[in-house]
Amino acid sequence: MMKGAKANVVEAIGNTPIVKLNHIGKDLNCEIYVKLEYMNPGGSTKDRIGAYMLDRAVEEGDLKPGGTIIEGTSGNTGVGLAMWAAVHGYKCIFVLADKQSKEKIDNLRAFGAKVVVCPTNVEPEDPRSYYSVSKKLSETIPNSFYVNQYDNLHNRNTHYTWTAPEMYEQTQGDFDVFMAAVGTGGTISGCGRYFKEKMDKVEIIGVDCVGSIIAGYHKTGEMGQAHSYVLEGVGEDFIPENYDFDLIDDFEVVNDKESFLMTRKLLKEEGIYAGGSAGAVIEGALKYAKKQTTKKKILILLHDSGNRYASKIYNDDWMSDGGYLDSSFNVQISEVLNTLGKDGNIITVEDTTTIGQAITLMEEKNISQVPVVSKNGDILGLCTEKSLIKPVIMGEFQKDDNISLAISNNYRVVDCNELLETVADALLKKEVAIITKDGKVSDLLSEIDVLQYMSEKGSN
Ligand SMILES: Cc1ncc(COP(=O)(O)O)c(C=O)c1O
Repeated sequence: MMKGAKANVVEAIGNTPIVKLNHIGKDLNCEIYVKLEYMNPGGSTKDRIGAYMLDRAVEEGDLKPGGTIIEGTSGNTGVGLAMWAAVHGYKCIFVLADKQSKEKIDNLRAFGAKVVVCPTNVEPEDPRSYYSVSKKLSETIPNSFYVNQYDNLHNRNTHYTWTAPEMYEQTQGDFDVFMAAVGTGGTISGCGRYFKEKMDKVEIIGVDCVGSIIAGYHKTGEMGQAHSYVLEGVGEDFIPENYDFDLIDDFEVVNDKESFLMTRKLLKEEGIYAGGSAGAVIEGALKYAKKQTTKKKILILLHDSGNRYASKIYNDDWMSDGGYLDSSFNVQISEVLNTLGKDGNIITVEDTTTIGQAITLMEEKNISQVPVVSKNGDILGLCTEKSLIKPVIMGEFQKDDNISLAISNNYRVVDCNELLETVADALLKKEVAIITKDGKVSDLLSEIDVLQYMSEKGSN
């Protein structure tokens, strides 16, 4: 065995760093520190519970050689279990809800696991739900072990015996508040118990999402009505056994949009590439921090890596289609035009113009694109340097050909009373937005204009 090497990848789990946030929340009366659990080899804190629960299952005789590990998992626990199974030579079947990202599903299949995908929006008792399907599989497959991270108390024991002592040792208990996004309840309950035993005054705050019933249950003791949401890994529509509500002092509740925007901000402003539940918990921490009258050090566990959300939270089209883009786009286009000093006197050409005339006009006026309109002002298309000049140089069109030959449709028409958000959406797919007023062309907005507006407004 080479000196300094780990015996296998499972041995490399843990010892993740804690880092300070230096920009987000800097105006508040709190310091925020985050534990980067995405630095575990499988990319999440669930590597720990995967290894710990399976080690205990072997010890307790629930998992026998050659057995099949079955779990209903949103992906991260699956990776932790699959990693342990690869190292120790077991088979895995994972049951996932269909809202989970494609990366997570592909990732599990790449480990050689079988993946069964079930509908998201059905009750847990429904035979199609991923809870029911996982249970059914474990009842019918011989020599199988249903891990059940929801009710298997070795989930929270993992954090009580491993994650929390590690954080306590790293910080010497130099924090006032511990926060984590909640799902199965394992992280908050396991860490919460350890910290409460060690520290007299520590506060344990969970972060739940709008649509989940967990925070409401903590407050009222009643099972509320769950609603669908998009955030992965956070919240539940039932109460898993791993919760120990007596240890949790309070909850902050956040929604999909604020969580996703904060996840992106975390990368932009702190360089931390984490998943959506990280945005959720930090958004929750800011809400918490705003209410504090004394300065507090907040320690937050960030569950997983941004890699698994590349096609979602970190994809502009997905964010825009879901209506999650920043509300600083929530301003009327006419106001944007004013700020940019655009006066609505845009130059247009009529459809009777020749290509040569349009080129001359663009050269004279030093403009790179010009809308083409009919005699009564209807928009027929857009001529750009690319659509006009290059084909002439290449000999495709002659200068006295009609302009209609060189019209591009790489634009979207947006009324000036609409919001900048509409222009931002349009610019994800088209090169330029043609702005109209009372149905007539008034201006053009391109990406550079939007960026200029944002920087003038001091927004990001
Ligand atoms: C990305 C992510 N964040 C947060 C959580 C919540 O952690 P816990 O299940 O320990 O409450 C999970 C677990 O399901 C998760 O996968």
